[in-house]
Amino acid sequence: MAYLTFKHVKKIYNNKVEAVKDFNLEIEKGEFIAFLGPSGCGKTTTLRMIAGLESVTSGDIILEDKSIIGLEPKDRGISMIFQSYAVWPHMSVYDNVAYALKLQKKSKEEIEQIVNEVAEIADIKDYLKRYPSQLSGGQRQRVAVARAIAVKPKLFLMDEPLSNLDAKLRVAMRTDLKRIHHELKSTSIFVTHDQSEALSLADRIVVMNQGLIEQIGTPNEIYHDSDTMFIAKFIGSPPANFFEVTVTEVDGRMILIHDMFKFPYEGSALKTLSEGYLGKKIILSVRPEQITINQKHALFETVASIIEPQGSHIIINAALNHEPFKIVSDLIDLKEQSVIRVGFTNQVALFDPNTERRIR
Ligand SMILES: Nc1ncnc2c1ncn2[C@@H]1O[C@H](COP(=O)(O)OP(=O)(O)OP(=O)(O)O)[C@@H](O)[C@H]1O
Ligand SMILES: [Mg+2]
Repeated sequence: MAYLTFKHVKKIYNNKVEAVKDFNLEIEKGEFIAFLGPSGCGKTTTLRMIAGLESVTSGDIILEDKSIIGLEPKDRGISMIFQSYAVWPHMSVYDNVAYALKLQKKSKEEIEQIVNEVAEIADIKDYLKRYPSQLSGGQRQRVAVARAIAVKPKLFLMDEPLSNLDAKLRVAMRTDLKRIHHELKSTSIFVTHDQSEALSLADRIVVMNQGLIEQIGTPNEIYHDSDTMFIAKFIGSPPANFFEVTVTEVDGRMILIHDMFKFPYEGSALKTLSEGYLGKKIILSVRPEQITINQKHALFETVASIIEPQGSHIIINAALNHEPFKIVSDLIDLKEQSVIRVGFTNQVALFDPNTERRIR
C-alpha cells in the first residue's frame, strides 16, 4: 500500500458547496506532490482535510496503513505552513523553531541540536536571535519552513507558501524548497495555482478542476501529454492553441483539414483517428513552441502582428481567420508586421470536442 492514500474523499460544506468530489490518490514515501488548479477548485480544502482542520464528508485518508480521519490534528504527525507567514511575532526565530520541540518534551541539548541543524538547512542560522519583524518576507518563510521540518513530520503540507513574496524571491525560494526536499526526503504536498511553481518543484502534479482530479502525472507528462483540453489551456505560458479541423484520409494519408490549411498528421493517434473519427471535427492542439516559422513545410501564411521579446526567445501574436494564436520562437530579430510562413511539428495533440479528452 502507498504511504498516503485517498479513497473516494469528498467534502461538502454546510452551505452545500461540494468543494471536493471523489478524490482518489496514492502518494509514495518521499514524494514531492503539487496540487495545481484554478482558484476555488478545492486545493486548500483537501490539504485541510489531511491536516485534520476540516472534517471529511465521506471517504477515507490513510497514512502508513492507518485511517487518520478520526485523529486530532496534533496526533497526525503532520506539519503545515500557510500562505500568510505562520511565525509568531512575539518569539525570536530560535524560539519559533524550538516551540514544537519543547511541546514534545525534548531536552534542552536535543532542541539546540535540532534547531541548529534545521537552521543550517533552511539558511536562517544568522538570524536565530532576531524577531520576525526584523526579517524580510523570504527569511520569515524560511523560518516557517524550519519550524515545520524541525519536528520531522510524517507529512509536510504547504498551502501557497510563496505567494506573499515578490517574483524574484519566489523563484529563489522555490529552489531552496527543492534543495531542502532533496536533503530531507520528507513526503510533501505543495498547493499552488502557479504552474511554473508546480512544474519546477514536483515529482508528480495533481491537476484539479472543480473539486475533481483532471490528471496526475510528472511535470513532463502533464505538459506534453495533457489528458484534457482544460490542462492544455491551463498549463503552458502561453498555453496551447486550438484549431478546429476535420479528419480525412486521402491516398492513405491522414489529413486534418482546417478552413485555412491542410495538415498531414503523422502522430501517434493515427489508428484511433481512422477507426473512429473519419469525417468528424476534432480539436488540433498546438503548443506555441510546436509552431515552426519560415521552414520548408509551411501550412499557411500570416502576419506577426505583435512581438513580445522575452530575452532568450520571442512570443509572436498572429491570427488565422481572425482567431488569435501565439508562437514561441527563437527568431529574436523578427520584425513586427512581417509575413511569416507557419507550420506545425508532429508533436501536436488531438482532442475530442465532445468529451474534451485526448485522442490517443
Ligand atoms: N469554510 C467554508 N465554507 C463553505 N464553503 C467553503 C469554505 N471554504 C471553502 N469553501 C468553498 O469550497 C470551494 C473550494 O475552496 P478551496 O479554498 O479549497 O479552494 P482553493 O483551490 O484552495 O482556491 P484558492 O486557489 O483560491 O486558494 C470554493 O468554492 C470555496 O468557496
Ligand atoms: Mg487555497
